[in-house]
Amino acid sequence: MKYNQSNIKKAKKYLDKGDCIGVPTETVYGLAANAYSSLAVKKIFKLKKRPHNNPLIVHYSNIKSLKKDCLINNSFTKLYKKFSPGPITFVLKLRKDSKISKYVINKQKNLAIRFPKHNLFKNLLNKLDYPLAAPSANISNKLSSVMASDVKEEFGTKIKYILDGGKCKIGLESTIIDLTNKPTILRLGGLGVKEIQNTLNKKIYTSIKPKKKIMPGQSLFHYSPGIPLKTNMKKPLIDGAFLLIKERKTILNNYYYLSKNKNLDEIAKNLYSCLRKMKNKGYKSIAIEKIPNKGLGKTINDRLNRASKY
Ligand code: TXA
Ligand code: MG
Repeated sequence: MKYNQSNIKKAKKYLDKGDCIGVPTETVYGLAANAYSSLAVKKIFKLKKRPHNNPLIVHYSNIKSLKKDCLINNSFTKLYKKFSPGPITFVLKLRKDSKISKYVINKQKNLAIRFPKHNLFKNLLNKLDYPLAAPSANISNKLSSVMASDVKEEFGTKIKYILDGGKCKIGLESTIIDLTNKPTILRLGGLGVKEIQNTLNKKIYTSIKPKKKIMPGQSLFHYSPGIPLKTNMKKPLIDGAFLLIKERKTILNNYYYLSKNKNLDEIAKNLYSCLRKMKNKGYKSIAIEKIPNKGLGKTINDRLNRASKY
């Protein structure tokens, strides 16, 4: 693995110039740029073909720099202490004197922020004097990237650099919780709602149903492999591939599996890369076995349901 300081230096050089680069996180790869620079942030939207009214998550390495941009509260402090750095994104009130580019938030007064856990990314953030806006590194509505090669496949030569941090440990995006009012989950993700509930010890609301107003993490058609996908299946469709959740001794050519033994962490970690591989093989559709709807399985099913609306 190319984990060395010279790669981090290179990444910093591009970011300082206002370029967008691919960065590894523990959830999925991000397409990162200086969150204080409108010029840099606008490049993210263009590269991703992302609607301008869909705000970005900003990544910080420490709470001191976060406090320059956001107002924090008790619920935040509790969750931060327990789960950050890690797969949780907080929506907080933006400070009036914050330097965050207005393009990051599209005129809103709230900012989504997170503290990523990947060592390489943390190391990079520590060397910068600005936080990094970074949506998932994929063309809007497509599959997120979990390896540097996925990012390359999405953007080709349009981005100048990808910091290679290996395969993402979790493989699903972060859980988003809005703490500007009553704690409300906006997106299921890598951290379970139950764990959040147990830490806050108060009622947690959820608002994860797709909305008319676009917030693509909440939109149907998101996370699509670009070919029809059917959930809860027992066999493939004609000309299609079949995705099993557990390894079988004898499998056909068009069969793939997500884990050795139905382990949900392993299934999550392999999900996007398996879907990407199947799509690239040229199959006309993907049928996938039923995923148990508990723990991370809930997040996996959320993503598959949206992807299946393609
Ligand atoms: O794990 C992750 O969260 C990854 C890694 C790279 O950090 N990032 C990611 O970003 O998934 P993205 O842009 O693909 O999804 C962010 C979601 C979008 O659905 C966006 O609408 C929502 O977060 N969001 C961003 N800012 C928001 C805000 N201020 N209020 C409510 N939702 C927000
Ligand atoms: Mg995304």
